[in-house]
Amino acid sequence: MTYLIGPLTQLLTLEDLPAKGPIADDLLKPFPNGGILFDEHGILETGDFEKLKAEVNDRQVRTIELNEDFVCLPGLVDSHTHICFGGSRARDYAMRTAGKSYLEIAAEGGGILDTVGQTRKASLEELVDGITTRISRHLSEGVTTCEVKSGYGLSVDEELKMLRAIQQANTRTPADLIATCLAAHTVPSDFAGTKQEYLSKIIEKLFPVIVEEKLASRIDAFIEQGAFQAEDVVDYFTKAQELGFDITVHADQFTATGSNVAARYDAMSADHLEASTDKEIACLAAANVAPVVLPGASLGLGCNYAPARKLLNAGLPLVIASDWNPGSAPMGDLLCQAAILGAAEKLSAAEIFAAITYRAARVLGLNDRGQLAKGQKADFILFPTSDYREILYHQGKLKPAHVYKNGQKIN
Ligand code: NIG
Ligand code: FE
Repeated sequence: MTYLIGPLTQLLTLEDLPAKGPIADDLLKPFPNGGILFDEHGILETGDFEKLKAEVNDRQVRTIELNEDFVCLPGLVDSHTHICFGGSRARDYAMRTAGKSYLEIAAEGGGILDTVGQTRKASLEELVDGITTRISRHLSEGVTTCEVKSGYGLSVDEELKMLRAIQQANTRTPADLIATCLAAHTVPSDFAGTKQEYLSKIIEKLFPVIVEEKLASRIDAFIEQGAFQAEDVVDYFTKAQELGFDITVHADQFTATGSNVAARYDAMSADHLEASTDKEIACLAAANVAPVVLPGASLGLGCNYAPARKLLNAGLPLVIASDWNPGSAPMGDLLCQAAILGAAEKLSAAEIFAAITYRAARVLGLNDRGQLAKGQKADFILFPTSDYREILYHQGKLKPAHVYKNGQKIN
């Protein structure tokens, strides 16, 4: 069935915006009284609603006539999350706000390894339920494509359980889940051997099953003191590349280590970057690695934001993601976090919208979404307002009234 929706008070296609670098709001060019002609395979045409209506008059098209003001944007893309996990880290959060350090919290049984224990205790079915609940909230808030990492299993079998849970959850939601293997998240406390031996096991026993079962097409590592160093991941990333995986890196979160690793392996993105200085920004720009900044982690940890303005000024395609996870970023509200980062880092509305739509899709290797144009997926969201500036002004409180994923109305 083909549908025509409109009139949309402002249609923001983001179609002609640049792939990289700063974007002035003048370029947004909201299309007044717009319409979208679409079916479940994608967008057939966008343009003036009345004109489109006249054109399709004699064809088998169902018109969705809107009688209120709506601003239409492409469906949001969250390119970095850890929404597959068991349990809660509310105890960590309380200790953190009371002033305990990361090391003190870890010494008291908190941190990533706490979630590893709770995730290992969860059944595959429980993990699927958890992902499904979280993605359904994300979808109602406009996120139609969401990356999900493993990394709380940290053994061949437990990482497989997580990746299979993500694959199964993907069949239970209209949203698209893009899985990433983060077996190099931290060193498991129960592994009897060195970091190298742990990663060798992952390469030998986990990577082939991921390929065979098509569980993920991306491999990630956390490069940080206390996790993995550049020299630890040479074989891990080299083998991953030989097998055709895309590379992404948790980089420069607490110390400026990681962006050089992302550059070396030609990563799709370097994510976090709170500790990046001009040197790391220049390194990413020279290697053309996309920066993914995670304001939700800065909010959750009570630390500084990544230098988003400088990253854009260096000509890079800034992406903003939620990092939704039980430890550093429990909130998981992408629009709210993007709006707050915008105020702190002086980002234009166009730069923020680009960072959570088409620029985010590109770091996941997806060229078929994030802009509203012929041939793109019919993923779009309708905000109940007549002015796009209201969306970021309300800092995430103005939610989409309607969400369409693959041409299907979700809410
Ligand atoms: O992206 N930095 C490493 N990993 C996650 C945190 C995971 C956790 O605390 O459970 C992150 O912030
Ligand atoms: Fe993360």
